Amino acid sequence: MRRPFVAGNWKMHGSRAANETLLAELERRLKPEWPVEMVVCPPFVYLADAARQLEGGRVGVGAQDVCAEPVGAFTGQVSAAMLVDVGCRYAIVGHSERRRLYHEDDALVARKFAAAQRAGLVPVLCLGETLEEREAGATEAVVARQLDAVLSIHGAESLSKAVLAYEPVWAIGTGRNASPQQAQDVHAFLRRRMAAQDATLAGQVRIVYGGSVKAGNAAELFAMPDVDGGLVGGASLSADEFQQICAAAAART
Ligand code: 13P
Repeated sequence: MRRPFVAGNWKMHGSRAANETLLAELERRLKPEWPVEMVVCPPFVYLADAARQLEGGRVGVGAQDVCAEPVGAFTGQVSAAMLVDVGCRYAIVGHSERRRLYHEDDALVARKFAAAQRAGLVPVLCLGETLEEREAGATEAVVARQLDAVLSIHGAESLSKAVLAYEPVWAIGTGRNASPQQAQDVHAFLRRRMAAQDATLAGQVRIVYGGSVKAGNAAELFAMPDVDGGLVGGASLSADEFQQICAAAAART
């Protein structure tokens, strides 16, 4: 049985005061007995504070990005080792906003994935097609290419300590989530593709869905056999919404 995984990607939101309140609320509301891996991903500058506040609790801390290089003259970048140093355990890599707005390609994402793992972080590898790609019938080709960029360089084994996040670009921040069946179809495709290399491993890798996940649709999405949780944007900024989404993941087990 795969342990459900739910992460909140706060994107560029928050402040010291607002974060402290939100995290205190989450600590109060997220039940320690829920068999769900629960994570928050605040902006870089707040990671150390968040990790300190959540230390010893049930909620882990992740970064929204990581530098592909280990150390050196890379102005503005943050290394995986630094993230570990301040208490992070996860790093999102390949988010569509990074791919689209900051021109990150598959090769760079694969290097970020490896840099995160080398430092001991669990990469949360984002994959997903645009609306044009879906309408052109290219969804499977796109997510296969994005997955293969990591598989071909780092091997299937590298996914044993990673989480995949299927995030159709057209569903992000639009209020229009993929239907449970649309998500399931892509998740099953990704699992089959991993299984072609290593069937045992493919059965163990968590594939979570992201794109307008909220309290009102989480249960039906997580009811699908290959949807192992969620990567939540906007709704993760509300303690009440995030609690209900985590509860829906707990109910799946
Ligand atoms: P929304 O939940 O706001 O659609 O964002 C999804 C996302 O991009 C999570 O990484």
